[in-house]
Amino acid sequence: MNTSETILLAIESSCDDTSAAVIKDDKILANIVANQEIHKQYGGVVPELASRAHQQHIIPVVNEALKIANIQKQQLSAIAFTKGPGLLGSLLVGTSFAKSFAQGLNIPIITVNHMQAHILAHFIDDKGMKKPPLPFLCLTVSGGHTQIVLVKDYLDMEVVGTTLDDAAGEAFDKSAKILGLPYPGGPLIDKYAKEGNSKAYDFTKPKIDDLNFSFSGLKTNILYFIQNNTQKNPNFAKENLADLCASIQHTIIEILIDKLEKAAEQHNIKHIAIAGGVSANSGLRNSLKEREQTLGWTTYIPKFEYCTDNAAMIAIAGYHKYLNKQFDDLSVKAQARLQL
Ligand code: KG4
Ligand code: ZN
Repeated sequence: MNTSETILLAIESSCDDTSAAVIKDDKILANIVANQEIHKQYGGVVPELASRAHQQHIIPVVNEALKIANIQKQQLSAIAFTKGPGLLGSLLVGTSFAKSFAQGLNIPIITVNHMQAHILAHFIDDKGMKKPPLPFLCLTVSGGHTQIVLVKDYLDMEVVGTTLDDAAGEAFDKSAKILGLPYPGGPLIDKYAKEGNSKAYDFTKPKIDDLNFSFSGLKTNILYFIQNNTQKNPNFAKENLADLCASIQHTIIEILIDKLEKAAEQHNIKHIAIAGGVSANSGLRNSLKEREQTLGWTTYIPKFEYCTDNAAMIAIAGYHKYLNKQFDDLSVKAQARLQL
């Protein structure tokens, strides 16, 4: 083994995906994700079931990652894992596993902030992606968060805008639920929106002056609109699914992009990235790309596999902390509400 190489195992278990990745310097050798199908029948993530499923998945997922990477555990330099934010029971599984594995191997542990990792996914060395120059702005949109982040350095980030209520992913998932679609509804709204007219229906946009977001008014607006129309025609949502999905998606994207434009202007930055599960949305990706022509932005969009929760992003964040020798003590605890 070349001793100047850094090889890390990374674990992500903050919500309902159990994932393990192996990274050699900034190149991903393996990135395994086990999704938890169990939550579909409940219309959302059930925390107790999530932590139980993590316990079942974690060892096979880690074994698979090491096998695909062709790395022996003795070659690992350290183990990185998600400290938070997320569901406490889920985080505890990854945290306990990583600590005991590292202790057994006598190697250091590195804790990673899940939201920071979503952003640092942009720095994975991958032919399919270009790395943003520092500083840049990142719109981080997931099931639990919606933030505009000023990224000053790999490990120096400032939240300049955040949601006051629901996250963008929740807005997608809750709208989908109102339309009778299963969880998680975001990808389904994206799929049906492709066939629909985004101007068919007009939904409420919040009036907030600063860089913060709000999605609860939109959700209520959609709920009453569907209820009223369903009274007149019980099949209203079904018959107009594509137009409804396209209009809802269009409204959510407008809310996001309006604030992103404002942030870019205020901070005088034209390097704009997106990250998090909702950055997989094709409408959002297209809207961002359009700003390259209209506003002269250079945009950075992660590959699909690095958008939704994955351990590759934990691995690259761990790698940058490793380079800075930012190791943690075994007494470190999972933190459900960890801030950026
Ligand atoms: O980052 P992520 O995998 O998990 C969290 O940290 O929350 O994000 C999950 C969220 C869910 O709300 C899901 O519906 C949404 O990302 N999502 C999408 C798409 N793919 C995933 N939303 C809209 N369009 C998509 N294509
Ligand atoms: Zn996430």
